[in-house]
Amino acid sequence: MNIELVELSSFQDERGLLVAIEALKDIPFNISRIYYFLNTELSSVRGFHAHKKLEQLIVVLKGKCTFTLDNGSDRKSVQLDSPTQGLLLKSGIWREIDEISHDCICLVIASEFYDESDYIRDYDDFKEYISKIQ
Ligand code: TYD
Repeated sequence: MNIELVELSSFQDERGLLVAIEALKDIPFNISRIYYFLNTELSSVRGFHAHKKLEQLIVVLKGKCTFTLDNGSDRKSVQLDSPTQGLLLKSGIWREIDEISHDCICLVIASEFYDESDYIRDYDDFKEYISKIQ
């Protein structure tokens, strides 16, 4: 399974670091929504779902967390801890997020508006969905 990590355009100077992300250039979709999670309690986990249509670029602006990705046949984990690196998540990928540091600020850039009907929140349903679309 291919984990797509994108090196973002970053500009370091004597003042500090600036990182820029442009739709349809750095990410292969138009941006409909941005959200972020932070202040995560110790041992809390997030995710545990897949999307039918939604694509996302995930950037950990501060701290760190681990994304475990599952395409139905293969499972891989990647630790995100760099504000200049984006994880590109296509549709049809089950994701689990753990080892989230309390100082972690995780930005998610999404291709679609929030739509609960796009979520698959049960792993067995995900396996069935993937086997049907493959
Ligand atoms: P949830 O899907 O549980 O987050 P995670 O992906 O980390 O498991 O979302 C938590 C709550 O926030 C849930 O009530 C739905 C709501 N929510 C929105 O209203 N809009 C959004 O864009 C997102 C991502 C979540």
